[in-house]
Amino acid sequence: MKRILTGIKPSGTIQLGNYLGMIKEVIEMQNKYEVLLMIADLHAQTVPYSPKELKEITLDIAKSLVALGVNPNKTILFKQSDVPAHLYLYWILGCLVNEGDLRRMHEYKEQKEKYKDEVGTGILMYPVLMAADILIYNADLVPVGKDQEQHLELTRELARKFNKTFKKFFKIPEIYIPQETAKIMSLTNPYKKMSKSEPEGCLEIFEKEQIIKEKIMKAVTDSEKEVKYDPLKKPAISNLMTIYKHLTKKSYKEIEDEFKGKGYYEFKLTLYEAFINFFKEARRLKNKISNKQIERILNKGAIKANKIANENLKKILKIVGLR
Ligand code: TRP
Repeated sequence: MKRILTGIKPSGTIQLGNYLGMIKEVIEMQNKYEVLLMIADLHAQTVPYSPKELKEITLDIAKSLVALGVNPNKTILFKQSDVPAHLYLYWILGCLVNEGDLRRMHEYKEQKEKYKDEVGTGILMYPVLMAADILIYNADLVPVGKDQEQHLELTRELARKFNKTFKKFFKIPEIYIPQETAKIMSLTNPYKKMSKSEPEGCLEIFEKEQIIKEKIMKAVTDSEKEVKYDPLKKPAISNLMTIYKHLTKKSYKEIEDEFKGKGYYEFKLTLYEAFINFFKEARRLKNKISNKQIERILNKGAIKANKIANENLKKILKIVGLR
């Protein structure tokens, strides 16, 4: 059976773009494949953070994932920091990686520019840890957002380099970029991706209903007043229609018909109701999961993940001459 691995960095809450782009797909995959879903808490340490918040956000994200449909009996849901083998392989790959290749990463350049000397070398080594996360399980396929593509290419390169330098051991993991991730744009600017870094334009799935309502009602719209799908001429309303389409499974044509003769205001109200309705069950479930319960789930996941990772690590240590 194909092995899928992906990671979510615990740096905030889950937003609509994450859900439609990645989480929804991973939830569908769990019925067909072996899925490892990791909360990348070590990656969250690469920028300044609060230890108390890191712990809280990690548990919160795990609860959100389960509430949204990640089934812990099928998917191996775990915390990266619970599997020490990642760090062992991280060192081995770190000794193979080219420094120049790391300095060329877009994300490194952006983050370094943003934080300057507030960050250490974790930000530079970030993609090496990602490569270790993936290769320690010999994953076949890695679903990620478009912004992570370059990191994944480096992962593939490191796998090839290891195989060539020592012995063929790693599979070259396939990159899978779910198409919808790129398509959900900010509510305040339809030319920018919806992102947690700009909260007014970002719909967070589990935030207060009142706030969701305000954000939707305040979302920018275009000139004229018909609800018509035209991403070039009417990018703002088209983006809202894309969201509505996902929540209701209606086609653009059906949506246009539904709102014929009605204005943006009515459409936005209906969109808000559709959003609440779509996530109602998940919101209810999330409130019912206690910290104890989610910790138990993560511990079980860690046991399964450690088993796979340690078996591979044993072989890797032999190959590189440490055993
Ligand atoms: N860096 C990824 C992100 O920010 C999260 C991540 C960490 C990841 N390790 C991974 C994703 C391994 C895929 C595979 O989205």
